[in-house]
Amino acid sequence: MRKKSYLYIVVSISVLNSCLKDKVPNEFAACSDLVSFSQDIQPLVELNCLGCHNEMVAANDVILTNHLRIANEANRMINSMQASGMDLMPFGGPPLSDSLIQLFQCWILQGKLDN
Ligand code: HEC
Repeated sequence: MRKKSYLYIVVSISVLNSCLKDKVPNEFAACSDLVSFSQDIQPLVELNCLGCHNEMVAANDVILTNHLRIANEANRMINSMQASGMDLMPFGGPPLSDSLIQLFQCWILQGKLDN
């Protein structure tokens, strides 16, 4: 079951990607590489977010300790990375680089895989 739905996700992503590529080549070209949760996303969150969003210190009740939690918070997370003032994360700034934000955005677009 799990294998099947994983395959389904991968297939839909490649179909979706090829459609998007035809229409807006530049905007989505950066997402052509598959983002890895364990190699890219987890380290990004550990370095920049986990200090204030773990089991002990859970600012605003946001806990980002595993794939499920990060996947569930992903939309709020990407918004917070692009916010300003008190809403900007990491709290107090500086903001993440454009390329890290893009990486996180690509991970969302590719289906928030646990890969
Ligand atoms: C230095 C501590 C600190 C760090 C580091 C930090 N946060 Fe936060 N975070 C907070 C605090 C404090 C709040 C609650 C106050 C606020 O929302 O402004 C918060 C709130 C949030 C919220 C909830 C916002 C809402 O809509 O209510 C999200 C989502 C969030 N952080 C994501 C992140 C992400 C993603 C990172 C890493 C890129 C991060 N945080 C890094 C302290 C931190």
